[in-house]
Amino acid sequence: MKNNKLSQYLLKDLTIKDKTIHNTIVLAPMAGLGHVALRQLISEFGGFGLLFTGMCSAKAVPNENPDISQVFKWQEKELKYLVCQIFGPDPESMAKAAMRIEKEGFFGVDLNFGCSVAAICKKGCGAALLKSPDLSSKIVTAVRESVSIPVFVKFRTGWDNNPWFAVDMAKRFEDAGADALTFHPRVAPDRRNRPPQWDIIKLVRQAVNIPVFGNGNLFEAEDGVKMIEQTSCQGLSVGRMAVARPWLFAQWTKEFSPGKDIFFTSAMRMTKILLDHYNDRFAVKLFKKFSPYFCANFKFGHQILKKLIRAQTMDDIRNNLDSIFESNPKTLLRPNQNLFL
Ligand SMILES: Cc1cc2nc3c(=O)[nH]c(=O)nc-3n(C[C@H](O)[C@H](O)[C@H](O)COP(=O)(O)O)c2cc1C
Repeated sequence: MKNNKLSQYLLKDLTIKDKTIHNTIVLAPMAGLGHVALRQLISEFGGFGLLFTGMCSAKAVPNENPDISQVFKWQEKELKYLVCQIFGPDPESMAKAAMRIEKEGFFGVDLNFGCSVAAICKKGCGAALLKSPDLSSKIVTAVRESVSIPVFVKFRTGWDNNPWFAVDMAKRFEDAGADALTFHPRVAPDRRNRPPQWDIIKLVRQAVNIPVFGNGNLFEAEDGVKMIEQTSCQGLSVGRMAVARPWLFAQWTKEFSPGKDIFFTSAMRMTKILLDHYNDRFAVKLFKKFSPYFCANFKFGHQILKKLIRAQTMDDIRNNLDSIFESNPKTLLRPNQNLFL
């Protein structure tokens, strides 16, 4: 059922540069998870303000062919609410990629200053840029000067547990021309088993005049209420839980009450949408990435996961889903996070 308090907080107009959204909860960028198929499933339920793509390489974006690319891929109808995230190590490549993103008609572009995965940081991208504040500012300025669509920045606390560094970076990003920030209050490298420090979202929010989307461990509607009340952030950015429950936005902001069969029907729908966009092999690969989040909804999620992903083809997956749901698996109110750290 809709959470009245949360939906009152979320169903507000928020202007980002010169564009206004009417709902301030968004899907966080997630590589390998926030692909065109998951976004379609989420869009069928509705209830969000914006969706973000997983990170795309700024070097690749200018020449990428969406018909064959596995990540730089979208549907025309989502562009009005879709923000494309890019990662890159320098102002020139980020600006060039942003220009392509503007040309394609996306709502906005999001710059990744948060990813702490070694492969990305080694190339001087993502959270590694937080070690070079001047270069970070230059990247934002270069993108700002190259496009007129909203420029978002996603970043994290930094490499040391120093809230004032995050505050300083937030001000730098604003001064460099960012139109909105998404802040994930964890230090790099990522350890999602430690709780994010929401207090720092409040400090960041107080330091800038552009909207701040708070991110990290939003699992239930009550968490959303708490984050907004504790931090005064203007919007919420939800990652893993929206993979586990693609109807979450509709449930939190619209009159959508999931029925008993929501898990089965959504997983089946996911198999179908994946096949609409990808070949069987890649669709199976993406379904297997989605599976730990989906299985986290169940009491014996580990066992269900094992059974579900023992599959070579999407037909196998569908047969597995049939047999798993024949025995009516018990669901959990709060998902088992051990499955999707
Ligand atoms: C599998 C996975 C992939 C992610 N990929 C990205 C990414 O491409 N860009 C990004 O800025 N953050 C990425 N993140 C981080 C999320 O956007 C988000 O900050 C994090 O999951 C915390 O939010 P949550 O607790 O709501 O999941 C990723 C997270 C996960 C679990």
